[in-house]
Amino acid sequence: MPFLTAEGQTYSKGLENVVAAISAISAIDGKEGILIYRGIDIEALAKHSNFGESSYLLLFGDLPNKHELEHFCADLFGARELPENVVNCLKSLPPDPHPMDILKLALAHAALYDPDKNRMNRKAKIRKAIRIIAQLPTITAFYHRARQGKEFIMPNPELDHAANFLYMLSGKEPDPEDAKIFDIALVLHLDHGLNASTFSALVTASTLSDMHSAIVSAIGTLKGPLHGGANERVLDMLEEIGRPEKAEKYIMNALKEKRKIMGFGHRVYKTMDPRAKILKEYAIKLSDKYNDRRLIDIALKVEEVMKREVSKKGIYPNVDFYSGIVYKFLGIPKDLYTPVFAIARVVGWTAHVLEYTEANRIFRPRVLYNGPIDREYIPLEQRP
Ligand code: SDX
Repeated sequence: MPFLTAEGQTYSKGLENVVAAISAISAIDGKEGILIYRGIDIEALAKHSNFGESSYLLLFGDLPNKHELEHFCADLFGARELPENVVNCLKSLPPDPHPMDILKLALAHAALYDPDKNRMNRKAKIRKAIRIIAQLPTITAFYHRARQGKEFIMPNPELDHAANFLYMLSGKEPDPEDAKIFDIALVLHLDHGLNASTFSALVTASTLSDMHSAIVSAIGTLKGPLHGGANERVLDMLEEIGRPEKAEKYIMNALKEKRKIMGFGHRVYKTMDPRAKILKEYAIKLSDKYNDRRLIDIALKVEEVMKREVSKKGIYPNVDFYSGIVYKFLGIPKDLYTPVFAIARVVGWTAHVLEYTEANRIFRPRVLYNGPIDREYIPLEQRP
């Protein structure tokens, strides 16, 4: 096989517009700003569903009946505890690493004790998926408590997935309306086609590596500021702007310096991200509920300036622009925003791994080599 040459090849940097898989899990209409999970619009799911039910939908393809939902949630709630060695490890870590690095480390550690660690059949993969989905919130909350020198708050079996996470962070049962808003935010983040972190999970899984390895790959990928890490940086930006009247100047300068405004733009959406629309409503609602419009007024001004300056280029708010304001009012510290993204997206990651490996093919794209060829080897002593 000769070296690959340019002719006859289609090279798309960043795999832009390249179809790398076929999936029935979610679909995005980037022009109209629509996202569907297994055929159901996320607006309907945000209005009527919850984390457990939508997770079941994504993992198994249909909305569960009452029995299926109860059984699935029981499995999820029953798998929240961490292996003792992982708990002890979380207690021994320094307080400064980024929580996304802790998520990678602790999940890889938990993998060593997973009862199905040497099994690769579908049923074992499903059991591992449920354990991973159940454990990420516990890892995140335990580390947050450990780095503050506080006692761990054990998972509360009476609370659903969203409320239990907020409870494990603070030790207090969350306001029911706040917990519901957090649950909706998780539903909005569950899946999103072949985004970078999902693709990362699939590349790992396609080599027939294990579920934990695939999810650790995805966590590392989500951490990046161009992907899941943007939500934390949006809050940094809003706090740096400080007041609504300073937003115009800040944004105009940034655009002039060709800096990317975090929380805006998308490879697929060329209109407002439907998730951002819903999160914007809740960010405003919570700002009014807690009588603190400082951040939302800055954000609204940023959106107004960006709309005037770059909407013609198809740059609009994405899921990360308003999510941080919601999380802030729910008492979630800023450096946990991306772990919260992972706590939701792990459902999509595991669903895609289960789906893709059912008809697996290892990912192995080609590279167009543009380096030299036919060079002589020059012995060390003859080199200048
Ligand atoms: C997520 O893929 C997914 O589905 C991801 C996600 C999911 O649910 O999994 O939706 C979650 O990751 C949302 C995106 C979070 N990231 C950010 O908010 C970071 C800021 N956004 C950008 O870095 C950017 O918009 C990306 C990475 C999201 C998309 O990048 P693309 O498609 O590669 O676009 P690009 O960088 O080629 O930009 C095209 C043009 C450029 O201008 P020109 O050089 O052509 O003049 O648009 C400009 C860019 O400069 N542009 C921006 C911008 N995003 C693009 N200009 C200012 N601010 C921005 N945010």
